[in-house]
Amino acid sequence: MGSKIFVLNGPNLNLLGIREPRVYGSDTLDDVRRLAEERAAQLGLEIDFRQSNSEGELIDWIQEARGSAAGIVINAGAYTHTSVALLDALAAVELPVVEVHLSNLFRRETFRHHSYIAPVAAGLIAGFGARGYALAVEAMASIVGRAASGGSA
Ligand code: DQA
Repeated sequence: MGSKIFVLNGPNLNLLGIREPRVYGSDTLDDVRRLAEERAAQLGLEIDFRQSNSEGELIDWIQEARGSAAGIVINAGAYTHTSVALLDALAAVELPVVEVHLSNLFRRETFRHHSYIAPVAAGLIAGFGARGYALAVEAMASIVGRAASGGSA
């Protein structure tokens, strides 16, 4: 069995497919999960895919990841732009983090240009819709693989 990766989704992402499709596309969160799982299976990773509208629940899951996951892929939704608590949780667990967003934050309102997650993330993927999750899983696979093989560049 491969390493387990948590893929965490924040508020309103349960509404994907019906929520502002011009911005977020027509894929549902289930479609996104399938895409991420397919890519993970190809890379020998296992995925635990979750969504919550509650900041506290996301924090509990980040804490749970310590000891049970090799890394965290996260789309924190609007909490990306507001939550010092998520930043603190991610910093505390000391796991590799890949930040993902469906939309290109930098083509949108300026309040979306700042991310509290970014300082603790290895990198950020934004603007590629659901496919971004497959890219994020791929990025995480290379990070986790690198760690497993002793950290060589
Ligand atoms: C989002 C971008 C955020 O600004 C927004 O609040 C979301 C979704 C994205 O995936 O593009 O809820 O994280």
